[in-house]
Amino acid sequence: MENILIREAQIEDAEEMISYLNIVGGESDNLMIGPNGFNVPVEAVKRRIQASHDSDNSIILIALSEDKIIARAELAGYQGGRLHHNAKFSISVRKDYWNMKIGTRLMTEIIESAKQMNLHNIDLEVVADNKAAIALYHKMGFSDIGVYKNYWFANNVYKDAILMQKCLQE
Ligand SMILES: CC(C)(COP(=O)(O)OP(=O)(O)OC[C@H]1O[C@@H](n2cnc3c(N)ncnc32)[C@H](O)[C@@H]1OP(=O)(O)O)[C@@H](O)C(=O)NCCC(=O)NCCS
Repeated sequence: MENILIREAQIEDAEEMISYLNIVGGESDNLMIGPNGFNVPVEAVKRRIQASHDSDNSIILIALSEDKIIARAELAGYQGGRLHHNAKFSISVRKDYWNMKIGTRLMTEIIESAKQMNLHNIDLEVVADNKAAIALYHKMGFSDIGVYKNYWFANNVYKDAILMQKCLQE
């Protein structure tokens, strides 16, 4: 496999991240944003990346091939003192790179970072028929904890989402 670099996103990555999100959104029905649906100004994306850097319960990782972002994973820490030990996980990989263990690598690094940040729980939602993502999350130790009925709406179809959690400190 070609050389894939994984590192924390920097504010200089903001424009490339916007391009990435607009492309990857068109490659799957399982992301919140569809094709060219990420209409966030570059300055706002820079602020988001900076806020993640400044936070002690969040991290954004990107995977790059020849300076192009080909995958992204985010742990977004909850705000508010009583929820501070929880974070929400999200991930996407460019279609040409699916099933090459890039998701596994990103999740492994994110979980390690979460432990270093002393987080207790990571949660996520996944569309109930997203078999690849569900396989990945179960492999990484996430458990199903509930179902959101008709949570997802894409291509004129409502779908349930499974809520998952990984406890880091039993
Ligand atoms: C889900 C996603 C992040 C996985 O990334 P990836 O780099 O392909 O993941 P990996 O290669 O590390 O692992 C994928 C796993 O799913 C398994 N898998 C793939 N297709 C599958 C299917 N149809 N049924 C069951 N398992 C499947 C693979 O065998 C692999 O498991 P293994 O490591 O035990 O062999 C990627 O497919 C993606 O970005 N999809 C579109 C966006 C998305 O769905 N994001 C998640 C939203 S919750």
